[in-house]
Amino acid sequence: MCGIVGYTGKNDCVDLLIDGLSKLEYRGYDSAGIAVMCDGQIEVKKSKGRLADLEKKMGEEGKPHGTCGIGHTRWATHGEPSDINSHPHGNKRVSIVHNGIIENYREIKEFLIDQGYSFVSETDTETVAKLLDYYYEGNPVDAIAHVIKEIRGSYAMGILFRDFPDKVYAVRKDSPLIIGLGEDGNFIASDVPAILKYTRNYYLLEPNEIATLSVNGVDVCDIHKNPVKKEVNVADWDLDAAEKGGYEHFMLKEINEQPTAIRTTIAPRISEGMPYLEESGMTKEMLRDYNRIYIVACGTAMHAGLIGKYVIERIAGIEVTVDIASEFRYRNPIITDKDLVILISQSGETADTLAALKLAKEKGATTMSVVNVKGSSIARESDVVVYTHAGPEISVASTKAYAVQLSVMYLLAFELAYAKGAISKEKCMELTAELQKVPDKIQDILVLKERCQFIASRLINAESLLYIGRGLDYALSMEGSLKLKEISYIHSESYAAGELKHGTISLVTDDMPVIAIATQSDLFEKTLSNIKEVKARGAKVTMICREGTEDDKAVANHLVTLPNMDDIMMPMLALVPMQYIAYYTAVLKGCDVDKPRNLAKSVTVE
Ligand code: G6P
Repeated sequence: MCGIVGYTGKNDCVDLLIDGLSKLEYRGYDSAGIAVMCDGQIEVKKSKGRLADLEKKMGEEGKPHGTCGIGHTRWATHGEPSDINSHPHGNKRVSIVHNGIIENYREIKEFLIDQGYSFVSETDTETVAKLLDYYYEGNPVDAIAHVIKEIRGSYAMGILFRDFPDKVYAVRKDSPLIIGLGEDGNFIASDVPAILKYTRNYYLLEPNEIATLSVNGVDVCDIHKNPVKKEVNVADWDLDAAEKGGYEHFMLKEINEQPTAIRTTIAPRISEGMPYLEESGMTKEMLRDYNRIYIVACGTAMHAGLIGKYVIERIAGIEVTVDIASEFRYRNPIITDKDLVILISQSGETADTLAALKLAKEKGATTMSVVNVKGSSIARESDVVVYTHAGPEISVASTKAYAVQLSVMYLLAFELAYAKGAISKEKCMELTAELQKVPDKIQDILVLKERCQFIASRLINAESLLYIGRGLDYALSMEGSLKLKEISYIHSESYAAGELKHGTISLVTDDMPVIAIATQSDLFEKTLSNIKEVKARGAKVTMICREGTEDDKAVANHLVTLPNMDDIMMPMLALVPMQYIAYYTAVLKGCDVDKPRNLAKSVTVE
């Protein structure tokens, strides 16, 4: 959600900024802009639309040249997507790009209007730019320190001051920003992929640290101007991981990366055949003592939590409540210091999940995060972190991050069940071994893509469809339904198959597609009955089931069969056809698969 790149160095920065921004496109945006120091003046180019629109505009109006600049992709919050509302904002003396929301911008704006300032955009960002100008008396760091004392909300900002033509300034709070240290210059960026081509060395700014980047170095100080020494991280993501590598879309690449991502995530957490989460700081003794478990997350990560709930409750016998983070934070949840609150997040920056984490901490619970991006806010603020090792996920629609989140949920469930004495060591080892087989099984079923492509060709004209399932299949179907609707724009609902008769079945008419997941042996007969009910009303049914249960061929119009595993492990296989069906439906409909409309990869505002 909004992407920031900045550079000051020895090279011309315009192509470099555009290239960096293109690596952040996955975050979602509707306009783009840059500000570059040219012959002692700040030159701004900005445009509604894609980066290509900005480049076209620069082609027509003349491309600025300079070695110091900032760039931005905007995901509109205050004010519609337009040239004027695009970042950078400011005036001749100062120019800023901003990610986040300034909550008290109205009062600041009124104050500045009284001081004689005028505004051209509807954005909150323009107020910050003009406030910086107001406080600027020759020292940029002083002005920034003054401004961050007055603004409320979340921000990551890159700033240029005309009087300091080879410097980029940066500050952040509750929105991510990294500082990249290159050989020919230094960078700011919202995320590592934007700078990987130039450097792997980076560090994170802590809240309200102010960075001053020049060609030869970076100075960081706190709000009182005390110097801060930073520890440099080395990104272990390679450049290929942030490129499509021959695949048509990132989503397809990421679906295919799932076996490796799961292997890399679970291998360090298994010791002598047993789950081993202690390296994260979560000991068996701690696990044994929790009364209740909450899992809190958004979107796909929340769906991973739902699978976690089913698996933990089934094998460990502990009550688990799954919450949508934006609900959890405002519903005054009953949490005590005897509870464990698990936050799941690919990006580690989702605003509502971060707020839920803070609330859980305030209430005294132990917080554990399952996060993909190292050093992200959620990871840093939680008591215990289990990193997933999916590598960078670029496609907005999450696939491999979901798969690795599930694998951590399984390990946690096994360890919890063993710690609580709900299963024997032998059973725990047996389940762990079953999980270790998953990557190879997924590798084998990746060949299902042609079958799924065919099924997708039958869905493209649908206005609406239903995903149904029971138990774990129902939890999984929620993700299948989300995947399909978010990228193909076909309205889709997931429904507990047993609940259909209580209302939703009235929607089923001739030719309505229904995708039924039926992998759970104890519930199979019941799901089959539900499939027959919708089929009798004209639905065209795709059934995702396991080998050997597809005998009753008459029941489904299309079948996808999966290899057999333990019932609880089946979601890890069934997720693949769901992802493929969504992917090919979107491709066949000509949708922008990796960047679906209105969506952002990382939702850093409420
Ligand atoms: C956005 C993304 C989803 C993601 C959700 C939560 O909606 O488009 O793919 O599941 O945010 O993000 P997180 O980074 O916290 O997992």
